[in-house]
Amino acid sequence: MLKRRKSKDSQTEITSPDEHIKCKFLVRNGKISYSIYRDDVVVVRNSRLGLNICGEGILGDNFSLIRAQEIEHSETIEMPWGEDRFIDNSYHEASFFVAENRALGRLMTLRFRVFNDGIAFRYEIPPQPKFRQITIQDELTEFGINPSSAAWSIPAFQPDRYEYNYEKARLGDLSSPVHTPLTIQTPDNIFLSIHEAALYNYGSMTLEAKNATIKSNITPLSDNTKAHVSLPFNTPWRVIMIGDSAVSLTKNRMIYALNDPPMRDFSWVKTLKFIGIWWAMYVGEWTWAPGEKHGATTSHAKEYIDEAVKLGIAGLLIEGWNNGWEGDWLKNGINNKFTEATPDFDLEEVARYAKRRNIELVGHHETVGFVDNYESQIEEAYDYYARNNIRYIKTGYAGSKMVINGRPEYHHSQRGVNHYQKTIELAAAKHICLDIHEPIKGTGIERTWPNLLTREGARGQEYEGGALSPSHACYLPYTRLLSGGMDYTNGIFDIKNPKKRINTTIARQVAYFIVFYSGMQMAADRPFMYSGEYADLFSFIRDVPTNFEKTIPLAGQIGEYFVVARKDRNSADWYIGGVTNESGRSIEIKMDFLEDDKYQVTIYCDTEKSHYKDNPLAYEIKTKKAKSSDKLKIHLAPGGGFAIRLQRL
Ligand code: NOJ
Ligand code: CA
Repeated sequence: MLKRRKSKDSQTEITSPDEHIKCKFLVRNGKISYSIYRDDVVVVRNSRLGLNICGEGILGDNFSLIRAQEIEHSETIEMPWGEDRFIDNSYHEASFFVAENRALGRLMTLRFRVFNDGIAFRYEIPPQPKFRQITIQDELTEFGINPSSAAWSIPAFQPDRYEYNYEKARLGDLSSPVHTPLTIQTPDNIFLSIHEAALYNYGSMTLEAKNATIKSNITPLSDNTKAHVSLPFNTPWRVIMIGDSAVSLTKNRMIYALNDPPMRDFSWVKTLKFIGIWWAMYVGEWTWAPGEKHGATTSHAKEYIDEAVKLGIAGLLIEGWNNGWEGDWLKNGINNKFTEATPDFDLEEVARYAKRRNIELVGHHETVGFVDNYESQIEEAYDYYARNNIRYIKTGYAGSKMVINGRPEYHHSQRGVNHYQKTIELAAAKHICLDIHEPIKGTGIERTWPNLLTREGARGQEYEGGALSPSHACYLPYTRLLSGGMDYTNGIFDIKNPKKRINTTIARQVAYFIVFYSGMQMAADRPFMYSGEYADLFSFIRDVPTNFEKTIPLAGQIGEYFVVARKDRNSADWYIGGVTNESGRSIEIKMDFLEDDKYQVTIYCDTEKSHYKDNPLAYEIKTKKAKSSDKLKIHLAPGGGFAIRLQRL
């Protein structure tokens, strides 16, 4: 599969195992570049590679190819939790060892992996004399994709991090940096998503249209460089997922395949469903800060623990339990204390009660981005939770920048990336699982660190009440969710609350538990919303698993709708979920993905008259029997959705 052309310049081709995708690596006039083809259609035209090293010039100009080495790899990876138990990790790899023609003779390796559904490459810099500590000023990687392609993105370097609405634009018009995954539809109807895998010790990659191409723009540090590293150093993988439909991209699991297997025992990690002392704060019934309406009191916590038991939900999140929320918590967060409870909250007592009732507590650390303050307490804070049998923590980084070593840094800069990693590793050492809000984007590191059960990293339901349109959730599966699971905080049934009017039908709130995968799934409303009038709808939330054997996306269009089926990891049952934008629609689901069995089907859906605007609370629960040769017709109301449980008979 490795074809070489002999000449002063060198060009080498690598093809995918199924031979549909081809990557060419070129060294011409000392410059290194690559291009990508799918069935001989150009996907990425010849595009520049290289790194600009502070004070030492460009790594990638005036280079020659010394040697190329190829490997064929085929493996099935087993994941401890997630959307699919098994992930295919088959690729053709080529490593290109290049050396500088100048006196310094610096060395670098470009490693390419070509999969059946995309390609990835990274820069590897070995240690070499006089070249051990380097500062990367810029990464020169370009992605020469047709500028007339359509692209769906959120802006980078903005105060609310990843919490923006997705916008569709012409790729060539993205003149300000955008985050990855950047999902693209080319004029030839090839669907791509540019992202990265294994982001460690480096700034996160953003992308921008520049000089008629798409160029990487690595999140800078406050000193205006991109990363300070010692050699050997490997950049994260640059990943281009390739599919023939938007739906096919949602099956892409390359980012996990490109990460290393876990290096220690994680058999203690368990996915979790939880309720929380949380939404009551968003609708103004309770407060994070102490006072008359304080949410996190010992008695509220015990009440919620009892409610969790009654509802059959295994976990409870408690926010606002610690000192530091008084006054304007966004401004005063520098004083947050992670080992000191407010006087009306007895953490030890609540933890004992939770243990007695067999409920997992989810602890909470809102750092407000004051990383220095957090890191000064982090060991003690994790020990405090671990001592009290608290094995899950939700962390938060509200605030437009972090404060690290006394300097303002982007969340997504090298220092931010390293901070998040520190929390993950420390938590792993203490057998704690994490749900990170205002996180660094997912790059598949959950494969190596399965205790990182989920993250936020997009607009979630906290933005309801005006800032979320029904189409938002129909963009996420094709964009944000390509980077891994998300804590969208599903299941708000109090749709018409004037403090936070929800722009969905109520049936769609249960659909989210299937549409958005998360290793920690929150049933986010107050428990009384689940035990009363809507108890029958809630039964889907109670029953839906948080760990799946396999996932089969069934239908959809970016920003319009998405339908997906998932098989439970621990039973023969299947679940299907679907959401639509402002337009209602009817869909027909072919059940041919089912095994050759009979199933009891329970459908939680909108009625013909439901509408997210003026009739959001109308829903139906229907039952029937089905087998793999059947088709199911489902109606989704404007802003609606559905969930289906299929129990094998
Ligand atoms: C933002 C998080 O996304 C939200 O879930 C949390 O309640 C607040 N920060 C306060 O920590
Ligand atoms: Ca948030």
